[in-house]
Amino acid sequence: MEKLAGLKKVKTAVFISGTGSNLKSLIKFSKNKKSPISINLIISNSKNAKGLKYAYQFKIKKKILDFNLNKIAEGKILSNLKKNKINFICLAGFMKVLSADFIAKFDGTIINIHPSLLPKYKGLNTHEKAIKNKDKFSGCTVHYVTKKLDSGKVILQKKVKIGNAETPISLAKKVLRQEHKLYPAAISKIFANL
Ligand code: GRF
Repeated sequence: MEKLAGLKKVKTAVFISGTGSNLKSLIKFSKNKKSPISINLIISNSKNAKGLKYAYQFKIKKKILDFNLNKIAEGKILSNLKKNKINFICLAGFMKVLSADFIAKFDGTIINIHPSLLPKYKGLNTHEKAIKNKDKFSGCTVHYVTKKLDSGKVILQKKVKIGNAETPISLAKKVLRQEHKLYPAAISKIFANL
């Protein structure tokens, strides 16, 4: 990450698979004068990802790649990232696991948002798990991406209270509202500390 110190606005790619509400919050954040990043590329593994609408709305380049051909797709991503001089990657609801090779190439400059208080509940269905275990709190985590899934160093976390009548859907909504604040805050924290 130190290699990004001093860059005016760090050129960033956001990887999505779905609704893209975190992408939207990151785009809004990037438009602030004080934001350390600009969003120059959106990568989606699905042409049906609703979040792709933000590429049109905010006139940001996009690339849709078929991840069934993992190695080939990653090669294509790499050349797109290079072409667009991308230095920083934010995964935002991206449902594919990147290879160790790919992660190594972007050593320490890929971050992710995860809807649980890591190290609790890595992987999928975090809200179901938190409710099933009768946890009093859940939340979200922004962390560095390493080759071990959802295990990289934590940058920031936010707790939310789980209510008595909470369902996975209501909890997901509650946590998502916090994600939209936490992701920009985590990025500010990273670059403030460089
Ligand atoms: C978020 O809860 C994120 O933490 C998880 O998937 C969801 C994506 O939401 N990995 P969105 O596409 O950003 O709206």
